[in-house]
Amino acid sequence: MLKERVLSGMQASGKLHLGNLVGALSNWVKLQDKYDCYYFVADWHALTTMYTDPSYIRESTKDILINFLAAGLDPEKCTIFLQSRVLEHAELHLLLSMITPLSWLERVPTYKEKQQELKDRDLSTHGFLGYPLLQTADILIYRAKYVPVGIDQVPHLEISREIARRFNYLYREIFPEPEALLTEFPKVIGVDGRKMSKSYDNAIFLSDRPEEVEQKIMTMVTDPARVKRTDPGTPELSPVYQLHKVFSSKEELEEVASGCITAGIGCIDCKKILIKNIFKVMEPIWKSRNELLNNPDMLYDIVKKGTEKAKKTAEETMQLVRESMGLY
Ligand code: TRP
Repeated sequence: MLKERVLSGMQASGKLHLGNLVGALSNWVKLQDKYDCYYFVADWHALTTMYTDPSYIRESTKDILINFLAAGLDPEKCTIFLQSRVLEHAELHLLLSMITPLSWLERVPTYKEKQQELKDRDLSTHGFLGYPLLQTADILIYRAKYVPVGIDQVPHLEISREIARRFNYLYREIFPEPEALLTEFPKVIGVDGRKMSKSYDNAIFLSDRPEEVEQKIMTMVTDPARVKRTDPGTPELSPVYQLHKVFSSKEELEEVASGCITAGIGCIDCKKILIKNIFKVMEPIWKSRNELLNNPDMLYDIVKKGTEKAKKTAEETMQLVRESMGLY
């Protein structure tokens, strides 16, 4: 039986952290057994907001590709590739731009939100307005059925569906309407208690060394009311406890909660348990990252093969698109 196709991408605008692992990558790894999965690094998308300072896009691209593999994406099972090396995405982006009303792009909520958020940059560019259209091209070119993404990406999926529908109506039925695959995952908060994010400077990166991880957790704030070791605490008020919820077993979670409430254990003990459990998740990733870092040819080969395969699939779609739009 032919497997249904799944596609997703990660923007190359920073190093990956535990939030990305729990929220996206682990889910991608699960999907590769059941679906025909295409996963890529969206390096062009990174340029839409970082065009004045592209220096770390390349570094970020490499970090993400390494983490794809280290987290368990298997090139025998899924297709791993680099967006900017499959030029057909750009061709489809251009062709779809002919049929996309400006107003559709202007009303995507992330457009104005991001402009507000990143006030220090001039985002009144064609490229930035076209962000969701480029994403649409990424998805439609593989005629993907499902797109595993976070809730923040739903407006982008919505416009992808609208553009697919418009193409199918104007020319011929080529594109399935892609569906977001929203998965429930525990929220990972950062070391300061806010959502883990590279822009808050509160993330534990997959590339952090064990000492760094340990130090980041050891210096985390806990329940501010728990000043002395003998003061009882409220677990829910401690960001450390929030991380326990994601990384610790049920038994350990109960143990640290009751230890905190009764002042039976101190914050240091509680953090040590968390460190042990985070290390358990990160150790295989560190091992695999080291192997890949010591063997750049291997990484290069995997991405090259994946990109060739993606190109082949993309080209098949493009032949249909070109024909439909009166091109040779
Ligand atoms: N916009 C996505 C994000 O920021 C990245 C992305 C680019 C993407 N192209 C895509 C995701 C295609 C899914 C499908 O996370």
